[in-house]
Amino acid sequence: MVGLWISLLALLVGLLIQSYLKLLMNRRMFPPGPLPLPLIGTLWYTGIRFSTDTLTKFTQKYGNFATIWIGPFPIVILSGFQIVKEGLINHSETLADRPVTYFVLHAFNRKGIGFANGHGWKQQRRFGIITMRNLGLGKKGMEFQIEEEARRLVETFSQTGGQPFDPSLFISNAISSLISTVSFGYRFSHEDEMFRKLMESIDSLAQFGVSFSHALYTTFPWIMKYLPGLHQRTLSCVKMALSFAKEEIQKHKENQDLHDPQDFIDYYLLQMEKSKDDPNSTFSEDNLAQCITELFIAGTETTSSTLQWALLLMVAYPDIQERVYKEVEDVLGSSHSVSYQDRKKMPYTNAVIHESQRVKYILPIGVPRRCAKELHMLGYHIPKKTLVVTDLNSVLCDPKQWETPNEFNPNHFLDKEGKFITREEFLPFGAGARTCMGEQMARMELFLFFTHLMRTFRFQLPEGVKELNQDPVVGLSMHPHPYKLCAIPRSSL
Ligand code: HEM
Ligand SMILES: *[C@@H]1O[C@H](CO)[C@@H](O)[C@H](O)[C@H]1NC(C)=O
Ligand SMILES: *[C@@H]1O[C@H](CO)[C@@H](O)[C@H](O)[C@H]1NC(C)=O
Repeated sequence: MVGLWISLLALLVGLLIQSYLKLLMNRRMFPPGPLPLPLIGTLWYTGIRFSTDTLTKFTQKYGNFATIWIGPFPIVILSGFQIVKEGLINHSETLADRPVTYFVLHAFNRKGIGFANGHGWKQQRRFGIITMRNLGLGKKGMEFQIEEEARRLVETFSQTGGQPFDPSLFISNAISSLISTVSFGYRFSHEDEMFRKLMESIDSLAQFGVSFSHALYTTFPWIMKYLPGLHQRTLSCVKMALSFAKEEIQKHKENQDLHDPQDFIDYYLLQMEKSKDDPNSTFSEDNLAQCITELFIAGTETTSSTLQWALLLMVAYPDIQERVYKEVEDVLGSSHSVSYQDRKKMPYTNAVIHESQRVKYILPIGVPRRCAKELHMLGYHIPKKTLVVTDLNSVLCDPKQWETPNEFNPNHFLDKEGKFITREEFLPFGAGARTCMGEQMARMELFLFFTHLMRTFRFQLPEGVKELNQDPVVGLSMHPHPYKLCAIPRSSL
């Protein structure tokens, strides 16, 4: 019996040594990095939860094109504007895939947009982009809906009567209502039990993405599948979100008006009808439910955290807030409504929004990609299926591109005459084949919400509070620590 154990152990050690030697051989194909050790790879160097700071230190030592290893799996890191741009734009097609972990596979089954690859992804994404554009058009289009929601938010803020309050819940409710309007054609009440559950599911899904439990699931899928734990609860959250979407799809099918599509589901059902005889069609109700769930995942936390940062920065920089207010007042005067077009007349305000998004970027690293074929870059031949991370934060804070990279400085987006300038290095939405599908919507939301709030209130610290914490909470998104501010109505309104 003991003999058997010893031979098994010897076999295991042998396999381990063999796979480690293979790793050391393979390592020469990849850009430089710290020495990977057996089993743990380079985790001894980076730690399990690597943050923006770890990445910065890492690239200072190994360069902007480098490799880390999670166990036997290499991850190539691209950082800084030049290298990220070369990867995302010159190698757009090669880097068009997303990694699919076992968990993502079990939860989403290759459907949707953000977690899908190949033909299905292409078809769903193309449809998604066209539909977002269609929903943006017309008198009652997206801009109108955003403005309505911005007015509601102003109303909610007014009710605080100048007393200190935490704006985060109000803001994320407004943003998720908009996704609900776009997807379902109407806004959910936040008292609605089902909708609250949906939003909680989305939240826990996002948290799971960066958890240790996800890493375990990825490494030992066949065991984890049968064990209880966080991954099982997250799987049931996914199920819950999908079945919520399916219920809405059912309602739409009952009252469908194919000639007058109003929301994402309407357009999708129309497309299913059109392509029902096409054998290559990937349009299905399952796929639709997945797309809807993703709009909530990708479009809620991102936009609402950005807006929370913008308000926090306005409290921290009252002079800048005052200049924004003056500009908004000058341009709008007594006009009741604001349009997205107005940003062209408000270069300073527009610069402040861009600068908030730059200096307080909400993703710790970009959204990972995977090589769809061999990647030939900077003299390396990186094999197909290798994971690639593009560190967008390092682009937005690249010291070679920005005059004061770590400082909140709206002049980054203004020329000498105070005109707004677009900066090529401003890549918060990514670039290339996988660039953010909701960029237009997000930009409209940020501008309209921000101007509505700025013209109505002066935001300031509660009495007795000296300053707000400007460090992010590190998670899947980098949102501010909970804070309170006072919204004092501007006297002129
Ligand atoms: C401030 C707000 C937002 C930021 C900073 C942001 C950022 C990003 C980034 C960096 C990516 C990955 C791009 C890449 O791989 O190169 C992405 C993908 C995506 N975003 Fe956004 N996003 C925002 C808002 C939204 C909104 C409002 C929606 C939808 C309503 C949305 C939908 C998506 C989708 C569907 C993808 C996946 C695209 C694909 O894989 O083909 N995002 N976003
Ligand atoms: C990337 O593409 C641009 C434009 O096509 C080109 O000018 C540039 O030389 C390319 N960069 C590399 C490193 O190939
Ligand atoms: C479906 O895809 C196959 C293979 O990609 C292609 O040859 C065929 O023409 C496509 N059929 C239609 C109806 O688009």
